[in-house]
Amino acid sequence: MGDSKEEVKRIQDVASVANATDTIPADFIRPEDERPGLTTYKGDLPQVPVIDFSIKDDEKLVAQIYDVSCKWGFFQIVNHEIPNDVISKLKEVGITFFELPQEEKEVYAKPPGAKSVEGYGTKLQKEVNGIKGWVDHLFHILSPPSAVNYKFWPDNPPSYREANEEYTKYLHKVEERLLSYLSKGIGLEENELRTAVGGDDLVYLLKINYYPPCPRPDLALGVPAHTDMSAVTILVPNDVQGLQVFHEGNWIDAQYIPNALVIHIGDQLEILSNGKYKAVLHRTTVNKEKTRLSWPVFMEPPEDMEVGPHPKLVTDENPAKYKTKKYCDYVYCKFNKIPQ
Ligand code: OGA
Ligand code: NI
Repeated sequence: MGDSKEEVKRIQDVASVANATDTIPADFIRPEDERPGLTTYKGDLPQVPVIDFSIKDDEKLVAQIYDVSCKWGFFQIVNHEIPNDVISKLKEVGITFFELPQEEKEVYAKPPGAKSVEGYGTKLQKEVNGIKGWVDHLFHILSPPSAVNYKFWPDNPPSYREANEEYTKYLHKVEERLLSYLSKGIGLEENELRTAVGGDDLVYLLKINYYPPCPRPDLALGVPAHTDMSAVTILVPNDVQGLQVFHEGNWIDAQYIPNALVIHIGDQLEILSNGKYKAVLHRTTVNKEKTRLSWPVFMEPPEDMEVGPHPKLVTDENPAKYKTKKYCDYVYCKFNKIPQ
């Protein structure tokens, strides 16, 4: 009383009550057509594509990545040269942060009304249908150095910063290779796509998703169906199944492959490629007993950068299918559900 600071209910707290009573609050229950219990594909699994980054034939890699980016907008990369222990440490320090007492995490809370998404939080505005997702998160920028704000990087555990910087270093190499293959795939020079999304100013926005156990995983979702706004997203999950992709009319589980990198083609590459590459529609389910975590890094153009179909791909026969606009305007429309 008399305290102007509004208490935000974290899903971690919601979950501890829900798990004790074996029920979930009504505002987490999905309409039937979104319920994972009813809508997950249960036949023979079409396995989501896997790309081996160690094959020495670049032409072949370009062709394989082109193919899956057009058909799925989604794939996993194995043999990517990020050492397993670098990924393990990234996960370890993130888990340690989320296991801290609530008040220690609140120190990093996204300031109310802040323009940037950075900080610890829970999605405040409900979705169009008024339903909430079963997930808390931490956002902070990893790169470029000029955009990093350490205020949002946990001090505890003490190795948090080193583990994240080490991962970022290796991620740069993967990102550069990936964008060069994607560039060649649509007939551009190897560096042209990367340049079009910001080159060395490309923003790496890390999100840690924390999905606590949920007594009714058949009724709730972690993150509801969406495409990422990024150019491309590179994600590592923990070993709890949960990511699903929409492919040829079905919601399919993306099989967990230890140490693989999960790649989502985001909206900006769909736009730049003038619709050749598909931004993948995806969502996450939650688990009855286990906590799921994931570490997507959204690779985004700087906010003032204009993004549209690449001029070299637009011709009289193949006119632009998307508008050209500043990335920040794209984000504004998407957040506010205004047509692009
Ligand atoms: C997201 C997302 C997937 C996951 O946060 O945008 O799609 O596996 N996460 O948690
Ligand atoms: Ni996503």
